[in-house]
Amino acid sequence: IRDDPQTASRYIADYIIERIKTFDPSPERPFVLGLPTGSSPVLTYQYLVQRHKAGDISFRHVVTFNMDEYVGIPREHPESYHSFMYKHFFSHVDVRPENINILNGNAPDLEAECQAYEDKIANVGGIELFLGGIGPDGHIAFNEPGSSLKSRTRVKTLAYDTILANSRFFGNDLDQVPRMALTVGVQTVLDAREVVIIITGAHKALALQKCLEEGINHMWTLSSLQLHPHPMIVIDEDATLEL
Ligand code: GLP
Repeated sequence: IRDDPQTASRYIADYIIERIKTFDPSPERPFVLGLPTGSSPVLTYQYLVQRHKAGDISFRHVVTFNMDEYVGIPREHPESYHSFMYKHFFSHVDVRPENINILNGNAPDLEAECQAYEDKIANVGGIELFLGGIGPDGHIAFNEPGSSLKSRTRVKTLAYDTILANSRFFGNDLDQVPRMALTVGVQTVLDAREVVIIITGAHKALALQKCLEEGINHMWTLSSLQLHPHPMIVIDEDATLEL
């Protein structure tokens, strides 16, 4: 628990940098980082970029996989997760373009796209550290309430709550928010060797309480983290309100 989003984000950025620096990469087993979008990780990306610019960390040998992407908006749309990642992170660091993996929400065969993504993760030796946030309904990536805890990368219809929450990025116009997304599954996240979740703000307090203090269940998909051997949840004071 940290005082505010700034210190929570700085803690995570420092932690990720330390993990990358102490990892011994090989061509068969690079450092594989799972990455989220949303407002929660923005400060973490800022700190990572700052430390990269200060010469403290290189991402040249890091392979990234993003959690999710909308279906049906062009890659160049300012609110696509592809655009988000370049704007907040990839354009400012030395990660190699060929090491960046983001689901293609416009692939002609979405199911094949999801299967290929799972195969690609497996081929690089699995994800070392998956960073994530949560929605106010406790969803991780786009694993909406009711998602199977064994789920893998797939097409998902967004919950009304998520469409509502994300409408702020689409001029508060519900009709502009995509209805579907591609998302890694709960099990895809749980397969990572370490999972780090950032949760800040009072609007996430109920979800945190449900996921931490109640049983594992598919209505609050982050609760599945209780099954993980190496989880870390970094929160600010406001997120503790319901604990
Ligand atoms: C979307 C993303 C999630 C993210 C959530 C919360 O639903 N798919 O990965 O955790 O938004 O976003 P924010 O951090 O903006 O509250």
